Amino acid sequence: MVGGGVTANGDPNMAKAYPGRVTRHVTMACISAASGGLMFGYDIGISGGVTSMPAFLNKFFPDVYRKEELDHSVNQYCKFDSETLTMFTSSLYLAALLASFFASGVTRKFGRKSSIVSSAVIFFVGALFNALAVKLWMLIVGRILLGFGVGFSTQSVPMYLSEMAPYKRRGLFNSLFQFSITIGILIANLVNFVTANMKNGQGWRYSLGGAGVIALIIGISAIFNPETPNSLIERGDYEEARRKLQQIRGEDLDVQAEYNDLVAASRASQEVKHPWRNLLTTRKYRPQLILSILIPFFQQLTGINVVMFYAPVLFKTIGFGSNASLFSSVVTGGFNVLATVVAIFAVDKWGRRALFLEGGIQMFIFQIAVAALIGNKFGMSGVVTDLPRWYACIVVTCIVFFVAGFAWSWGPLGWLVPSEILPLEIRSSGQSIVVSVNMLFTFLIAQIFLMMLCAFKYWLFVFFACFVAIMTLFVYFFVPETKNIPIEEVSQVWEKHWYWKRFVDHQAVETELAVQKTKESAVEAELDSQKRKESA
Ligand code: BGC
Repeated sequence: MVGGGVTANGDPNMAKAYPGRVTRHVTMACISAASGGLMFGYDIGISGGVTSMPAFLNKFFPDVYRKEELDHSVNQYCKFDSETLTMFTSSLYLAALLASFFASGVTRKFGRKSSIVSSAVIFFVGALFNALAVKLWMLIVGRILLGFGVGFSTQSVPMYLSEMAPYKRRGLFNSLFQFSITIGILIANLVNFVTANMKNGQGWRYSLGGAGVIALIIGISAIFNPETPNSLIERGDYEEARRKLQQIRGEDLDVQAEYNDLVAASRASQEVKHPWRNLLTTRKYRPQLILSILIPFFQQLTGINVVMFYAPVLFKTIGFGSNASLFSSVVTGGFNVLATVVAIFAVDKWGRRALFLEGGIQMFIFQIAVAALIGNKFGMSGVVTDLPRWYACIVVTCIVFFVAGFAWSWGPLGWLVPSEILPLEIRSSGQSIVVSVNMLFTFLIAQIFLMMLCAFKYWLFVFFACFVAIMTLFVYFFVPETKNIPIEEVSQVWEKHWYWKRFVDHQAVETELAVQKTKESAVEAELDSQKRKESA
């Protein structure tokens, strides 16, 4: 733990309690930054609705349009199976994956705020390309630009939130990112619901262009946001960092202890010259490395994006009309937001493991139910029969329960847990791994889902349910509880874990702690003497 702070109860082993209120400054800044998640969410929610609009299909994917509208002999499971159509959805995530490799350097060198502002600018240009598209390449270029925007914002926004948030509210502030992702998805679902009914067949342009309005709001509000004190210190602007810290924590509070610790932490992390090499090759970081890969991998293998991207297509596949399909995605989007609110308030109370386990069991049950319901009606042949209203309602209800199970478990925890188990010296490179694994599997699922639906039929839901069972067992055995443990002390959990403790070298931990303490005292002494000189 970094020295110089006040402890909650005077015990040096307990969590520090830096003074800091939820000030107007910090609240406004965090709400504005968290809204960066809207861009990600809007993209997730918009493409499914757009790709189910006949005018859009007819213009850019005439083969799919013919199969869907005219050729009723095609197996119901296969009528949307088109590689170029899925490329429209998935290209964005491939671009985000590429962006995540260099986003961490940009965020470090130029600051979190500039990274958020540039993500909004790139995103805005991408939205223009999409809204004005007359050829397929314009659509794809637009999607790629949007992807760069998403890659930058998923790297910088969670870091910005964690650094700005007052110490004790880090969990809540961090979850605002996921909350704004879900709001973005819901806004997209609602926009599609309205634009799909436009008579001129141009509704899809408004849907895709809507991303530009979101980018404008985010970009303009980010310009007025303060930079985080951590980033200012990292780039050598100590005076400004101190002033900003004072402003965001409360003008009347003594922020010296937190400031000293930020300076010490920044110096310690600057001594780590090769964060990537460290993370990938050092044995003691093995638990963090494995979880940073597996958590985003499992998050995507829940199959959530099958519902988020393709809900309208999926509902159409099982026989809903266009409007009913789009309306049903508004319903699932709405429950996604509500269930995320549950997570925001429960995560620090019930803990991460309880939510992971409950959510996993719930998702498993309802995925099997969806498979059974669809299989029972369509069998393997996928021949269209009339779907009674009550039956369709049961399918939608099961999907809603599945989405809710995800929204209070793997949704927010898929971002929160990796960010809190990574120690400062490898936090930025670790976050890049989380973002890139997440985007890689988001891309793969988006790209192959329609193909898999055509090949596996209703068994596809059983396939995802099997993964949910595996990841729930994995959490049970391998994910330690990190609730209410300050970030700097999370490394203790590995020492106590039945499996991970074999990667912890106890002797090395003690030596490291002793070295750390000496360094901190040196930094404090240096800062004190600087202060004395200034006041003399
Ligand atoms: C995931 C997205 C998903 C969204 C659904 C996020 O945490 O990363 O892939 O679409 O949650 O709410």
